[in-house]
Amino acid sequence: MSYKTNKIIIAIDGHSSCGKSTVAKEIAQKLNYIFIDSGAMYRAVTLYCLRNNLIDNGIVDIPNLMDNLGKIKVYFLYNPETRHNDIWLNGDNVENEIRLLAVSQNVSPVAAVAGVRHLLVDLQQEMGKSKEIVMDGRDIGTVVFPDAELKIFMTAKPDVRAKRRYDELTAKGEKVSYDEIMENIIERDRYDETRTESPLRKADDAIILDNSYMTREEQLQWILSRIEEI
Ligand code: DC
Repeated sequence: MSYKTNKIIIAIDGHSSCGKSTVAKEIAQKLNYIFIDSGAMYRAVTLYCLRNNLIDNGIVDIPNLMDNLGKIKVYFLYNPETRHNDIWLNGDNVENEIRLLAVSQNVSPVAAVAGVRHLLVDLQQEMGKSKEIVMDGRDIGTVVFPDAELKIFMTAKPDVRAKRRYDELTAKGEKVSYDEIMENIIERDRYDETRTESPLRKADDAIILDNSYMTREEQLQWILSRIEEI
C-alpha cells in the first residue's frame, strides 16, 4: 500500500546498530520520500581521514582535517542496480567501504569534531528544504530538523544490537568477533552520548521505539501508525 501524507520531515535518532537506517529506508519507500542516512556521511568523512592519515589510534589531527575540509565532497547518487542512493566520497562509491569495522572504530572521534558537524549539518538541512524526507542519525530531531513533524528515538538492548550487527557483517564475509562488535557498540553509545558537540539525546517531543523484541514488519507498522496519527 502506498501512503499519501502532507509534506513532512521524519527524524529518526537513536543508539548505534538498532536498525534506524533499515526502517527509515522502508518508510521512505512507502511514502515515496527521500531517505538520508546521515551516519553514512560521518562514516565517509572518517574514511577520508583514514585514507589521508588524519586519524591515528582514535586521535584526529583536527588542524589538518580543518585545512582539508573544503576538499571533502560527500554526496548521494542513485544506484539503478540496488535502487537506493549510494554514498560517494570525492568520486568514489564508498557505500560498502564505510560499513567496515575499521570505519566504525574510528567514526566517533571524527563525528565529535565541531567543523565536521557544521559541514554535514548544513548539507543535511539543504537536503530537507522541500521536506518529504526521512533522515536517521543522532541529532536529527534535536539539531538538524528541530521542527520535524515526526521524531522517533529508537533503541534496543545492546546484546540484541550486537547480535544483529554480527550476523550482518559475517554474512558479508567480514572476519569479526561478537565481543569486538559488542565493545564497539557500547563504546560508540558512550561517545555519542557524552560528546560536547550535539550529543545523542532524545528530543523532548520524540517518541521512543524500543525494537528489542519487535520484528521488522512490526516496527514498520508501528511507525506507519504514528504517521497516520499526525
Ligand atoms: O548511524 P551510524 O552508526 O552509521 O553512524 C556512524 C557514527 O556517526 C555514529 O557512531 C555517530 C555518528 N553520527 C553522528 O554523530 N550524528 C549523526 N547524525 C549520525 C551519525
